Amino acid sequence: MSVERELAELVNAIQSCRKCRLHKTRRMPVVGEGRLDAMYMFVGEAPGREEDLQGRPFVGAAGRILTDALLSAGVAREEVYITNVVKCRPPGNRKPMPDEVSACLPYLLEQIRLIRPMGICLLGQVALNAILGLGSITRARGRFFEWKGIKVFPTYHPAATIYRPELREIFFSDIKRFVRKMQA
Ligand code: URA
Repeated sequence: MSVERELAELVNAIQSCRKCRLHKTRRMPVVGEGRLDAMYMFVGEAPGREEDLQGRPFVGAAGRILTDALLSAGVAREEVYITNVVKCRPPGNRKPMPDEVSACLPYLLEQIRLIRPMGICLLGQVALNAILGLGSITRARGRFFEWKGIKVFPTYHPAATIYRPELREIFFSDIKRFVRKMQA
């Protein structure tokens, strides 16, 4: 089966998913977007209000920061693949619960298997924990890890730079480092 076809089936599965309570309150599941042959991916936490309305990842305030950081690294967001660990919005933007992450993680793993990126940038604690099983974004950020033959690079979640402006410069330079490594 072609990658396009397998991804189309995955999209259908996510759109009709009822594996956890989040399907009851979501408006639109947010599968992810970008190139199916992307060299690298960005993985966030879960859709927020704007993403839930539009069905697209990172289109709210945090998304603008991610888009700007990518642009400042010389990359347009259309060139990469962007998704989240959890595909449906947790009500009130609370953190996804562990059982919601476990229910949804197979979809992300399938996206990774199909897209076969060289690298994955993990945005924040939830993505760090889901993929690498690590607990501290402060300790893990800015380092490259090897995971299933893929270079995995954790950094802060872009939303963290809104309430902690001192993280903005670190976030932008982390994104630049990740992109440079992917292009090397
Ligand atoms: N925050 C996330 O983690 N993902 C989004 O898509 C938007 C905001």
